[in-house]
Amino acid sequence: EDTTARRKDAHLDLCATGDVEPGQNSTLLECVRLVHCAMPEMAVEDVDLRTPFLGKTLSAPLLVTGMTGGTERAGTVNRDLARLAERHGLAFGVGSQRAMAEDASRAASYQVRQVAPTVALLGNIGLYQAVRLGVDGARRLMDAIGADGLALHLNAGQELTQPEGDRDFRGGYDVVESLVRAFGDRLMVKETGCGIGPDVARRLADLGVRNIDVSGLGGTSWVRVEQLRAKGMQAELGAEFSAWGIPTAAALATVRRAVGPDLRLVASGGIRTGLEAAKVLALGADLAGMALPLFRAQQAGGFEGAEAVLGVILAGLRQALVLTGSRSCAELRQRPRVVTGELKDWLAAL
Ligand code: FNR
Repeated sequence: EDTTARRKDAHLDLCATGDVEPGQNSTLLECVRLVHCAMPEMAVEDVDLRTPFLGKTLSAPLLVTGMTGGTERAGTVNRDLARLAERHGLAFGVGSQRAMAEDASRAASYQVRQVAPTVALLGNIGLYQAVRLGVDGARRLMDAIGADGLALHLNAGQELTQPEGDRDFRGGYDVVESLVRAFGDRLMVKETGCGIGPDVARRLADLGVRNIDVSGLGGTSWVRVEQLRAKGMQAELGAEFSAWGIPTAAALATVRRAVGPDLRLVASGGIRTGLEAAKVLALGADLAGMALPLFRAQQAGGFEGAEAVLGVILAGLRQALVLTGSRSCAELRQRPRVVTGELKDWLAAL
């Protein structure tokens, strides 16, 4: 096996069972309280979660964020979770398509259209792979899997913790600019668990980026994943920076404030329950994104295991809307909310 595929398999093993969500990290969503409405005056079935995304209409404002591809095991994860997204009307992203860019025989593990013909589907490449691939290479990767959009991932924290990772982060905005010109509102820029803050978001928006997944701190830590693989100095640095990042709630609220109402914002990084999804929707996210909980549920119980976990999340989200007296995400956004503690400090500083 080549090194990209081998590294990906080690990543999957660590994410399936390792301590990749350091306990000291928080999304700061515990600092957000939605306000109970004792008289909702609505039925659960009145909740309408439909949300536009990538030219399609989702049944619920949830994105299974990009995780994997390149190996047989990864192919099973992609097909199970894409089928789940198709059945429940969520959006779905494949993981980094670097493995198929390097070796076309790996493409099958990213193919989900046979099980998810209508799902809103995102391809995925890293910012610095995009430099090497160019716009045409990126378009070929998208077309090869029938994707509706392309997620461009940022992961400087992870790269610096990888012995073989990138050390030169210059020229990123130029790459984004060329991809925006090619893909327009089909392009999404995402982090991978360290968060996009308001200054970066504003520059991306100025370049024409229309979709951002803030992917903040509080869930899967890729610095921690690399720490668990590393030795020597890299392992020490990984431990030191495992809590590095902008907590998801802080990234989301400050980015929304910075970019205004029209940019499509996904909040991922540590979203684990329907109530947490409701909180990010109330704070201004258009969609909540999740990776690790659905991956783990799939690893433990296949499609049915993932569907059971998703069922609880969807029920919790609906319950939060009913208990705030909200028929839709737009109404939820109008409801009062209480912001306390450290999140207030972030909102004051950024
Ligand atoms: C990821 N993530 C990720 N992101 C990306 O853009 N390209 C990728 O290839 C991967 N690979 C990947 C594998 C696995 C197993 C996990 C759990 C995650 C990051 C992911 O999309 C998301 O941004 C973060 O994981 C934060 O969300 P959670 O996991 O805290 O819900």
